[in-house]
Amino acid sequence: MLAEQFAAAAHRCREHSPLTHRLLRDAADDLVRGGVTAAIMAGSEHDRDATVPGLRFAGAVHRLVLEGRAPALARHYPTAGGTPDLPALWQDALPALHRHADLLRQRVRATAVQTNEPGRNAPLYGGLLVAAQEAAKAAGRAVPFGVRLLEVGASGGLNLRPHRVGYRLGGTVLGDPDSPLVLDPEWTGRPPADLGRRLRVTGRAGCDLDPVDVSTEDGRLHLSSFVWADQVRRWDRLRAALALAATDPVPVERSPGPAWLARQLAHAEHDVLTVVWHSVVWQYVSPADRARGRAVLADAAAKATPQTPLALLVFEPRRAGGRDAGHRFELLLRLWPAGLSLRLGHGAGHGTPFTWEVSPWE
Ligand SMILES: C[S@@+](CC[C@H](N)C(=O)[O-])C[C@H]1O[C@@H](n2cnc3c(N)ncnc32)[C@H](O)[C@@H]1O
Repeated sequence: MLAEQFAAAAHRCREHSPLTHRLLRDAADDLVRGGVTAAIMAGSEHDRDATVPGLRFAGAVHRLVLEGRAPALARHYPTAGGTPDLPALWQDALPALHRHADLLRQRVRATAVQTNEPGRNAPLYGGLLVAAQEAAKAAGRAVPFGVRLLEVGASGGLNLRPHRVGYRLGGTVLGDPDSPLVLDPEWTGRPPADLGRRLRVTGRAGCDLDPVDVSTEDGRLHLSSFVWADQVRRWDRLRAALALAATDPVPVERSPGPAWLARQLAHAEHDVLTVVWHSVVWQYVSPADRARGRAVLADAAAKATPQTPLALLVFEPRRAGGRDAGHRFELLLRLWPAGLSLRLGHGAGHGTPFTWEVSPWE
């Protein structure tokens, strides 16, 4: 069972991370032999596929490398300055796996795979510009609203500073060109908004069932360990987002989304657009929490006025149409009381590249 789960996880990351693919394939073989991987995975034998035991193992091993506890293995990890030599990977992993088997077992048992993708700031930024402008239009104002951003499922909160990120577009940089985090959003088309205006964020808050405190070394290592170590661009993006977070801390509250949202939405702020945002969260939310979340939002939407407008902005995988078409990541916007409901575009799961293509969202 575990060996099959590892082999399946290896297969899924084959094209994106040859290093993780090789580590998991060799670990799957080791499980079959009853080697050290079996000792590390003791107690996880009956874990559900959805908990991705293979990626928990790869994350725990990556964390050892980042902590400097696996010097022989580190020479294969670009995130530790190494260069992968895949045929030698497993032999170089073995000493660290044996030496730290107990620690690895504890970590594999205690952690869930958790990521926070800063690339999603790019569709968020464009979507917020559109929302602020459309809400202003509906209220008869010339100047876009300032935004209060409320993020459900914020993880480490790395998407709570969209106005403090730079977005390189041709010869210009939107947002904050001096930011430690400057993204290449790789946009096809443009958001239907005046890109010359800066986004004004007047408040931010986030919640998560299991928040990551990126102000601590433990929190930073936790998020870092789940980036595949040969995905250098993602890694650099995460480092930059963590550096930005250090200059502008925003705590993420431990709470299920609906209860937190009900508290946040209890008082509307005047002359501000309140935006409820979530990205790649919906698939993890229980049916009961989904129903509660919808009810909380419907209640707040019914009370929204042109001076206290409300928006829902989401970036989530959705079925692309047609039974065999698979999923794609779409950016969707609803605005109250304007009654606007738009599909703003679609892009890669990490937020870049992205295509702006507006159509009605039924
Ligand atoms: C794949 S991560 C995405 C994190 C972040 N939104 C991003 O785009 O990088 C999903 C997050 O949703 C959180 N989550 C799942 N169900 C939740 C719920 N009912 N309420 C709040 N957070 C939830 C998880 O703990 C996890 O941090």
